[in-house]
Amino acid sequence: MTDSRLLRGAVLTFDDDPGESPVPRPDSLRYWEDGAVWLENGHIRAVDDYTTLAPHVPAGLEIVDYRGKLIMPGFIDSHVHYSQLDIIASFGRELLDWLNDYTFPAECRFAERAHAEEVAERFLDELLRGGTTTAQVFCTSHPGSVDSIFSAARARRLRMLAGKVLMDRHAPEALIDTAVGGIRDSERLIADWHGKNRLAYSLTPRFAPTSSREQLDAVGGVLRNDASLYLQSHLSEHRGELAWVAELFPECRDYLAVYERHGLVGPRSTYAHGIHLSDDERARLAETGANIAFSPTSNLFLGSGLFDRIATREAGVVTSLASDVGAGTGLCGLTTLQGAYQVGALLGQPLTAWQGFYRLTLGNARALHLEHCIGRLEAGHEADLVVLDLAATPLMARRTQVAETLGERLFALMMLGDDRSVHATWASGRPVHQRDASDTHAAP
Ligand code: GUN
Ligand code: ZN
Repeated sequence: MTDSRLLRGAVLTFDDDPGESPVPRPDSLRYWEDGAVWLENGHIRAVDDYTTLAPHVPAGLEIVDYRGKLIMPGFIDSHVHYSQLDIIASFGRELLDWLNDYTFPAECRFAERAHAEEVAERFLDELLRGGTTTAQVFCTSHPGSVDSIFSAARARRLRMLAGKVLMDRHAPEALIDTAVGGIRDSERLIADWHGKNRLAYSLTPRFAPTSSREQLDAVGGVLRNDASLYLQSHLSEHRGELAWVAELFPECRDYLAVYERHGLVGPRSTYAHGIHLSDDERARLAETGANIAFSPTSNLFLGSGLFDRIATREAGVVTSLASDVGAGTGLCGLTTLQGAYQVGALLGQPLTAWQGFYRLTLGNARALHLEHCIGRLEAGHEADLVVLDLAATPLMARRTQVAETLGERLFALMMLGDDRSVHATWASGRPVHQRDASDTHAAP
């Protein structure tokens, strides 16, 4: 039986990078004030003006009326830790203390499968509440933490990337694996999940300080054998971390060289942060197609530094945009954009709404090599979308009303919006989140 619907509302989708100027590059986006997206069997069948499309749909097709709202592709988060959901907003530490004081204790709890399953469900609820339909997710070193998030994502028909943390030193005993055991577990998880449904596996060495050379080498070996696998890790986030890496790997000329030496830098690699990279490291990254996940709310929260998005991009490095929760302070893509704007403002590089929304959608899809299936509202693409309310609060309604152009309205949404602005989220052509105005949450 055909599962089909027509969503009617304003529609915005990017076809290319709109550039950095206040006026988007020609042909970089399409916008329909009274548009429609025809969903069929989990995919997009057509996108057009409502009046153009309506005569072509079968009589009696369900029409979901989102007039007054804005339909965009579902947001994508290139780097997030689901195991850190419950320690988001933990006070007053910088990276290495924050890991020891909050992160590792929270991750220890994932030895218990029931805990992992419960957090995985709540994490996906929160992602969808914030309009994010795809994420690249750090789990913990427990293989069950990966089974839990993949099972939960499969049940909701989400496109999701995830992997087991590999970490054989410098962490609590309860979280440590071994070079051989960590790879054996990863290979089992790859066999069970990679390429199944909408799921993909991302090899996950946490960062250089928590892996031995043997472990990094073994990860490189797995990657060399399968070009479809992803890799996610951290790079050059915090000054103290850089000094530690230099001490642990004296044979390497810089931080990136540690990963290069073990064959871990390629087009499907995502390195979170990259704040303190040298020009030389940027030039080497650019040659590989690896992407740097700019994680602004995390960088501001931990005081790690200001990521120079423009210098990184001008060096030819692929960048993506990420929440990095639990150091990040919000899972909603709009919150991430606010942080990105603020970091840019401090560097004299203000982020336009065009560039911001491009990054959250098609830009991130491209960085993750998923632009053939997500990130755009386009016939044949998977039907993951977000329906945004630009008047979710009295103040936002006022601001939107006085805005004279679409660019101004989008900018106000980017700066003032949060999960209250996400009216609905759809994945694989089905509703997976619907905001209820009375949906307030009392403290326990
Ligand atoms: N570096 C190594 N592990 C982590 C982590 O969990 N979060 C952040 N922000 N940086 C890291
Ligand atoms: Zn991270």
